[in-house]
This record gives sequence, C-alpha cells and structure tokens, in this order.
Amino acid sequence: MPGAFLSDIQTLRKRAREHIAQGAVTPGYHADRDVVIKLLNEALATEIICTLRYKRHYHMAKGIHAESVAAEFQEHASEEQQHADQIAERITQLGGAPDFSPDGLASRSHAEYVEGDTLEEMIKEDLVAERIAIDSYREMINYLGQNDSTSRRMLEEILAKEEEHADDLATLLEGLAH
Ligand SMILES: [Fe+2]
Ligand SMILES: [Fe+2]
Repeated sequence: MPGAFLSDIQTLRKRAREHIAQGAVTPGYHADRDVVIKLLNEALATEIICTLRYKRHYHMAKGIHAESVAAEFQEHASEEQQHADQIAERITQLGGAPDFSPDGLASRSHAEYVEGDTLEEMIKEDLVAERIAIDSYREMINYLGQNDSTSRRMLEEILAKEEEHADDLATLLEGLAH
C-alpha cells in the first residue's frame, strides 16, 4: 500500500501551494539548503580555477608547439566552464547566489592554480587538481544521498567527466615518458 510511505494527493497539492516564491524548492526538500549552496559554491570556485589553469596551460603549451597536448587542455577548459555554468544554475534554482567573485576565489576552490614551468609539470598539476575534484565530488555525492537527488545527479555527471579528464592526463603523462 503506497499510502504508507508516499504523501497523498491532497497533501502534495496543499504543500505545493505553500511558499511558491521558493520555486523549485518545495517543503519536501530535505537537504540543508544553506549547506548545499555553500558546497556548490565551493565546487563552482573549483571549476573556475580549473578553467583558468587549463586556459593558461593551453596558451603556454601552444607557445612551445605541443599542439596535441594544448588541444586537450583547451577541451578540458571548456568542459570545466560548462560545469561552472551547470553548478551556478543549480545554485540559483535552490534560491542561492552563485559566487563568481575573484576575491578569495583561490581559497574557496578545492583545487589549486599552479602554473607549472614545463609541459610535464602542467600535466601533473592538472592531474592532481582532477584527483582533488574527484574526491571532493564523491564526498558531496555521498553527503547529498537521497536528500537532493537533482544536485546529486548533476554532481555524478560532473564526477564522471573529471574521471575522464584524469584518465586523459595520465595517458598524456605516460606518452611524454616514452
Ligand atoms: Fe569540472
Ligand atoms: Fe576536470
């Protein structure tokens, strides 16, 4: 009997009419919204820092005629930028404000902005940053659990992409060694 654990139609309808200014956030939202917004803003900072680092690496690698590596950096830069937009959109859906302020950006980010002097150093630093992102996304996903499945699903998609990035970089690094 579904009634035992699902809300009945009257309750669903009544609840949906309450606090309609909150848009997508209904009384059935069980996560701590302030915490989720704070976590998403940290993820946003991470994606912005990663975009900037990959852009720097793209231009530097081009300068030393490492075209195929440069192309990979460019691709990652644009994917990190897409992640930043997805996260910012979710923050506004939750009634929060995405933090794009350059002040404190590097300290809000999980991953670091390291320039790197050689191609190898750039790839290594990018790989470290991806591995940081992978772990922090995994923790966020576990934290959200069933309480905010939309944010969780978005983070799961982003996590899969970061794993792909890390794998790309490990392959590039291996290629350099030979
Ligand atoms: Fe990303
Ligand atoms: Fe990435």
